[in-house]
Amino acid sequence: MIYLDNAATSFPKPEIVYKACDYALRNSVNPGRGAYPIAMDSARMIFSCRNTIKDFINAESTRNIVLTKNCTEGLNIAIFGALSPGDHVVTTVLEHNSILRPLHEMEMRGVDVTYVEPKGDLTKEILKAIKPNTAMVAISHIDNLVGYLKNIDTIGNSLNPNILFLVDAAQSIGHVKIDVQMSKIDLLAAPGHKGLYGPMGTGFLYVKEPERITTFMVGGTGSESANPIQPNFSPDKFEAGTLAVPVFHALEKGIKFINEESIEKIGGKIHALAKRLYDGLKEIDGVKIYSLDGEITSVVSINIKSLDSGFVADKLANEYGIATRSQIHCAPLAHRFFGTIDTGMVRFTPGYFTTEEEIDQTVLAVKKIVEEN
Ligand code: ALA
Repeated sequence: MIYLDNAATSFPKPEIVYKACDYALRNSVNPGRGAYPIAMDSARMIFSCRNTIKDFINAESTRNIVLTKNCTEGLNIAIFGALSPGDHVVTTVLEHNSILRPLHEMEMRGVDVTYVEPKGDLTKEILKAIKPNTAMVAISHIDNLVGYLKNIDTIGNSLNPNILFLVDAAQSIGHVKIDVQMSKIDLLAAPGHKGLYGPMGTGFLYVKEPERITTFMVGGTGSESANPIQPNFSPDKFEAGTLAVPVFHALEKGIKFINEESIEKIGGKIHALAKRLYDGLKEIDGVKIYSLDGEITSVVSINIKSLDSGFVADKLANEYGIATRSQIHCAPLAHRFFGTIDTGMVRFTPGYFTTEEEIDQTVLAVKKIVEEN
């Protein structure tokens, strides 16, 4: 199989991730409850993972890192916990449903949302949309449909400190450097299972000022257990219930793999592979590539003539062994913007373990499909 669906989840994982998961599944119990040795070791695995995430994004403290089951959970904690009726939010039409649906829910509760289109200078358009009651700017760093890299550094540093800056790093973490303090990010949600090479079921939310965010999920934390009220300190405030030690232990190894290889090397390779694919596909008559002005990062999306994207993806999978994602990519407003809400798009997302030969074979496969249809 030629796996070009790394935007959905990275595959394969580095060997140390598989080994760590197996090890921790056999050698961990509930963390943060019992005080016997294996329970303490399990709590240490969680702490160590949290600490590695903290260093990876240059957060202030481990208290700012909330472990979640995916990026969507982090975005929900941030959006539901920060906004109130009467607030205004700026977002863009490029966002995934993991931002759009919680925001839509908040719109039904009296929050006003502006959806900026990527026409002209997106950074300027986002900043122009700010109103006196803007409480949050909520955007992805790189979107999952055409892979446009937003300038989070300029946006974060231009915002008034009373506006929360929420960044969805689902498609950038692990191959584009993120420094939450330098980019003045208040809330950063990320999955563990994509660019960080962890297992599915992992993610985190960076919360700069936990006191500005309320929690909607409460329960056992192993701390202040006689108190009927959820502890008010982070991360316990946001982490009710048993944490998934084996997968977070494995996630830590995924991040260590990135640190050892270097993010520059990983990003350089992924972006070069995507560019090679883009350059190959753009030479084929009958292929439409969707992109915005800017560098090619990690995503290349196309359609072939007027063929349905699902038909093309099935052909790629069944006749050429190429795994892609097609149809609507959980980004309905972006599909409307690009005029593909009916056809969808065929999306190719190379990863660090993709080879140049696999990219060249993919270009040839697309060429054949064009010729035969
Ligand atoms: N958000 C993931 C994707 O774009 C699942 O495929």
